[in-house]
Amino acid sequence: MTSLEAHYSVRDVETRILAALRAAGLDPEQRLSPEVLGALDHFHTGGFRASRVLQELAQIRAEDRVLDIGAGLAGAARMLAASPGCRVDCIELSPDYCAGAVLLNRLTGLEDRIEVHRCSALELPFADDSFDAVWMQNVGMNIADKRRLYAEVHRVLRPGGRFAFQEMAAGETASSYFPLPWATHPAENFLISAEEMLSVLDETGFVVDFFEDASNEQLSGPPVGGAPEVTAQAQLSLSVYVDNLAQKAENATRSLQEGQIQFVRGVFRAKW
Ligand SMILES: C[S@@+](CC[C@H](N)C(=O)[O-])C[C@H]1O[C@@H](n2cnc3c(N)ncnc32)[C@H](O)[C@@H]1O
Repeated sequence: MTSLEAHYSVRDVETRILAALRAAGLDPEQRLSPEVLGALDHFHTGGFRASRVLQELAQIRAEDRVLDIGAGLAGAARMLAASPGCRVDCIELSPDYCAGAVLLNRLTGLEDRIEVHRCSALELPFADDSFDAVWMQNVGMNIADKRRLYAEVHRVLRPGGRFAFQEMAAGETASSYFPLPWATHPAENFLISAEEMLSVLDETGFVVDFFEDASNEQLSGPPVGGAPEVTAQAQLSLSVYVDNLAQKAENATRSLQEGQIQFVRGVFRAKW
């Protein structure tokens, strides 16, 4: 197991999810809506609300075929499959998260619209020009080879297709507070600056539709990385499967406040 796989490995993930749902007063035998799961399954900065923002920016429509890269428990894929109602393929490296995603797809009745594939973002098992949109939230931070990552995204997008993403970028000084939600140790932390990101995206064949530094939005909002949704199911949290969550979220917020990291989001189009 690589150290990245170890970082995202979760023993008995299905049992943990079912226990958490019951503890939150939800009945897994009744169909669940993606919204009530938002605090559990949107493992990224800004939680469910940030996913809706990205959906609107990328103008994802029901007829779009979407690929969610590094989908985790596939919270965003279920959101898109439920409304606007797309077909979504998820790819994910961690077998535990794949198992959790398949379970939650079934409990929400969305398994017919979402397919989960266990593989790497650097070797996508899809033909060229397969997707209208590629979606990626808080994943690039784990991948050193950005050029290959963006080239794979570009290859599977049809010409003019959208690449919608959010992630952390490197700030003016190096990250010094660990563990972070995406990296237990510095060796797992593969941030590049926003400028480098724009440059590699341009070189791999993308043109910018929208790009912003949304760090201030995060600093004035709920804690980074563990943003709990305000729902009746307040007990649901990423801590069901992320250990040491409070410290990781605090370190991320501190890193953002001190300019060691930046929170960015963008929508880019494949040029050819
Ligand atoms: C912080 S989680 C984000 C999960 C999901 N995108 C979300 O926002 O809820 C990062 C995810 O990226 C996955 N990941 C990291 N590197 C990957 C790679 N090379 N290929 C596929 N998945 C990867 C991890 O296993 C983990 O599930």
